[in-house]
Amino acid sequence: MNVLILGSGGREHAIAHKITQSDLLHQLFVAPGNAGTAQLGTNLNLDINDFDAIKEICLKNNIDLVVIGPEDPLVNGIYDYFKADESLKKIHIFAPSKEAAQLEGSKEYAKEFLIKNNIPTAKYKSFDIETLQQGYKFLDTLNPPYVLKADGLAAGKGVVILTNLKEAKKELSDMLTNKKFGKASNKVVIEEFLDGIELSCFVVTDGESYKILPFAKDYKRILDGDKGLNTGGMGSVSPVPFVDEVFYNKIKETIVKPTIKGLKKNNLTYKGVIFIGLIKVNNNPFVIEYNVRFGDPETEVVLPRITSDVLELFQKVASSNLKEYNLKITKETALTLMLVSGGYPEKYEKGKEIKGLNNITDSIVFHSGTKKDGDKIYTNGGRVFAITSFGNSIQEARTKSYKNAEKIDFEGKFYRKDIGLDLI
Ligand code: AMP
Ligand code: GLY
Repeated sequence: MNVLILGSGGREHAIAHKITQSDLLHQLFVAPGNAGTAQLGTNLNLDINDFDAIKEICLKNNIDLVVIGPEDPLVNGIYDYFKADESLKKIHIFAPSKEAAQLEGSKEYAKEFLIKNNIPTAKYKSFDIETLQQGYKFLDTLNPPYVLKADGLAAGKGVVILTNLKEAKKELSDMLTNKKFGKASNKVVIEEFLDGIELSCFVVTDGESYKILPFAKDYKRILDGDKGLNTGGMGSVSPVPFVDEVFYNKIKETIVKPTIKGLKKNNLTYKGVIFIGLIKVNNNPFVIEYNVRFGDPETEVVLPRITSDVLELFQKVASSNLKEYNLKITKETALTLMLVSGGYPEKYEKGKEIKGLNNITDSIVFHSGTKKDGDKIYTNGGRVFAITSFGNSIQEARTKSYKNAEKIDFEGKFYRKDIGLDLI
């Protein structure tokens, strides 16, 4: 098979890493990719939302399967674009339809889907500029903290949680009246605050069958103890020790099954991965959000734990044969630690030379934001590397990742010191 992966982060490097382990692979292309994916296949410079350019690349390179990392092309309808084009129809695409991608593209759409299908989630109401006054009144009825969510895609920044009622009202007005998040905040979902511990659940589905991939815990904030600003994710761990058999079955019965059934009932074509952001409240799972793609850095621990052929898995999902696939998972723990640029998630500098990559032992280093120039590798993003290690315990995996974090060197390097500690 010839495969094209769209994206340029650690998630895409982890996908490429797994795909190149498959005997089914002929040629791998990654667009635009990074210095890590360049070692595994051919990087192609491309705007991942330019579907005409993607079409040209697919036809020129006889691509059989397209796997998409980020949400934008999915929400913009890449699946529908492929299915509507005679010359692309035969290419398998691991993606939801444009309509189904609204589960991530619109918070209101996702909430309506959840409620309609009786899936546990926080109570909510949504408001637009016409109903701003009702929004204020609704906030008056809630207890703090207040959760306000821009309806549309806002590069992971659209959720604001405030403890002060006055500030919450001001935020609502900023979003609706002052278009704080542009078009994304034309509507705002206000919801009940859920207090609990979060985890990420990935379910692959071809619309009929589904498989639950290993669970992972993400560390979202920049500082130890989960303090400071929100980031794309500073590390992650899989499996999640607090998911015991009872809790696993609750997730399967009350969340995963109704989600798949809901897709079918609503004729939502889905041949990809559903990322269900969950929160455990009093031993019960609630859905915080749906994403229609793999998470990053969760992918850097989830995919390495799969011991069966991941390319075959993607192919079977995209061709509606998932039922035939035998998913195998290692019992070992995987932990990933993100190295980020100084200043991230706010302003940071790029183009810092990276040294020490040749000294790594016992870990897989996934590149997140790197660029090759001649023989040298430079930083090219806020998140720079995800260092993934295995162990028979979290402690064992941690020791390896932290040992290697010291060996990689670039100006401004920063990482959290507490990934996995809360789970030991
Ligand atoms: P989202 O983009 O919907 O995942 O929201 C970002 C983060 O905000 C989540 O990972 C949670 O930490 C937090 N969050 C979102 N909704 C709620 C809620 N209803 N209650 C508590 N925390 C929430
Ligand atoms: N790590 C969370 C995300 O990918 O959205």
